[in-house]
Amino acid sequence: MKAPARESSPLLVTDSDALRKQVARARRDGKSIGLVPTMGALHAGHLSLADAARRDCGFVVVTIFVNPTQFGPHEDFARYPRTLEADAQLLAGHGVDLIYAPSTEAMYRAQHATYVMMEGPALVLEGEFRPGHFRGVATIVLKLFNLVQPDRAYFGRKDFQQALLMRHMVADLNLPIHVEICPIVREADGLALSSRNVYLSPDERRRALAISQCLRLARQLVAEGKTDARAIVARMRAMLDAASLQIDYVALADPNTLAPIEQVTQPTVAAIAARVGATRLIDNMMLGETD
Ligand code: PAF
Repeated sequence: MKAPARESSPLLVTDSDALRKQVARARRDGKSIGLVPTMGALHAGHLSLADAARRDCGFVVVTIFVNPTQFGPHEDFARYPRTLEADAQLLAGHGVDLIYAPSTEAMYRAQHATYVMMEGPALVLEGEFRPGHFRGVATIVLKLFNLVQPDRAYFGRKDFQQALLMRHMVADLNLPIHVEICPIVREADGLALSSRNVYLSPDERRRALAISQCLRLARQLVAEGKTDARAIVARMRAMLDAASLQIDYVALADPNTLAPIEQVTQPTVAAIAARVGATRLIDNMMLGETD
């Protein structure tokens, strides 16, 4: 059922008891619960997830938590942008009911010893280049699922593998949660929105465009009838090299299993991770589709 957009500020809670109390009250009022997990530094991509949750659910919770366990030792945990006040202001115009922004200590007690390990599609692409990343993601998302107990949870397709893995986790662990995967939001010139885009210098911002451009190239080659994945990937890599990006991977894969594709004669996701200077960006696009 469509809920009207509301302008009032969301309630900001940092305490899990307060969170549970508010969610329980909404449930008693017969409302369905929508969850949008984020690490903050919100942009229009996150807001589109909040809007989707608002459309579907009676009570919308956005969580803001920069999760240390999903960052590798040499990654950007310390410098990841933390902009809680601005985030809360942004969410006010999107009908969000509650923001849950716990401290690290509240989420991970000193004796924390339990982690969610995923296999299969968790071991390739991001899993290969960021060992331990999905262990951290799955662990925090399961904790948030347990705290909020949402009916529906919203993830962006920019993190294609993450969203796919969340669907797997929900199915594997029999969680009664519908995982909704929402479209990538892009700048007018094609750059996928990411909280990490703020790290880019003007020159890096310009060079980063090669990522979405080479995904479009792959889509165009497939539309022209090219099917040889190796040849398509070679063209994509050449475009990224020309922009002096440092490639982690360029992959054409089955969108359900993430197994590599040799001939693009079935639904295929093209996925990229590349560094522009010190900033690592990811992006993806379905081939053989138009959106
Ligand atoms: O996509 C993100 O922002 C994070 O990986 C998530 C899902 C909020 C877990 O920390």
